[in-house]
Amino acid sequence: MKTFFQKIKEDIAIYKNKETISKKDLLHVFNPRLYPVILVRVASLLSQYHLGVLGKIVSFLNFVLFGCDIARKAKIDGGLYLPHTSGVVIGEFATIGRNCIIHQGVTLGDRGEEYEDANPTIGDFVEICTGAKILGKITLDDYSIVGANSVVLKDVQRCAVVVGIPAKVVKYREVI
Ligand SMILES: CC(C)(COP(=O)(O)OP(=O)(O)OC[C@H]1O[C@@H](n2cnc3c(N)ncnc32)[C@H](O)[C@@H]1OP(=O)(O)O)[C@@H](O)C(=O)NCCC(=O)NCCS
Repeated sequence: MKTFFQKIKEDIAIYKNKETISKKDLLHVFNPRLYPVILVRVASLLSQYHLGVLGKIVSFLNFVLFGCDIARKAKIDGGLYLPHTSGVVIGEFATIGRNCIIHQGVTLGDRGEEYEDANPTIGDFVEICTGAKILGKITLDDYSIVGANSVVLKDVQRCAVVVGIPAKVVKYREVI
């Protein structure tokens, strides 16, 4: 399992890659895209060390400051990128692979109260576009893309691009 610092290193690497920040440009300190990811990592670390209450406070700050409601117990690999932070909801039983992009208004959750622990598993290099909802104990395989405002209720194959409600495959992405 990766350490806190390994994950943060990967988060910063993808952030720098996407944002193409110059060292002289101090304005990037006002770019809100990395801070919520760091708060997610801190909340998760605190939970691992049985400091759940502090973890909860950090998650609360993330919600108040950036509009991200991300459970501190969700298993999220390194390289998480949130292009616009607000409205991202991730349940505590969700798993996210490395280098995933999650846009604003995305929910990874269950399909109802009776399935509380049934959250999705997201592979590596997956992009979930704005407003999409991924519901239930389903798997989005590596390199898949979920279109804006889609509702995904079934497994998605590797490299598939799915759109609509309920989401269906419209094409397969080419991965170099
Ligand atoms: C899913 C997505 C990435 C696919 O883009 P693409 O590879 O260029 O796909 P295409 O535009 O060729 O679309 C393929 C088909 O899916 C349909 N489609 C694409 N996105 C759709 C969506 N979100 N909902 C419903 N249908 C959609 C297209 O109309 C097209 O259908 P057609 O073949 O019958 O004409 C893109 O449409 C999308 O949803 N992007 C959102 C990105 C985002 O979150 N931006 C916010 C930035 S702030």
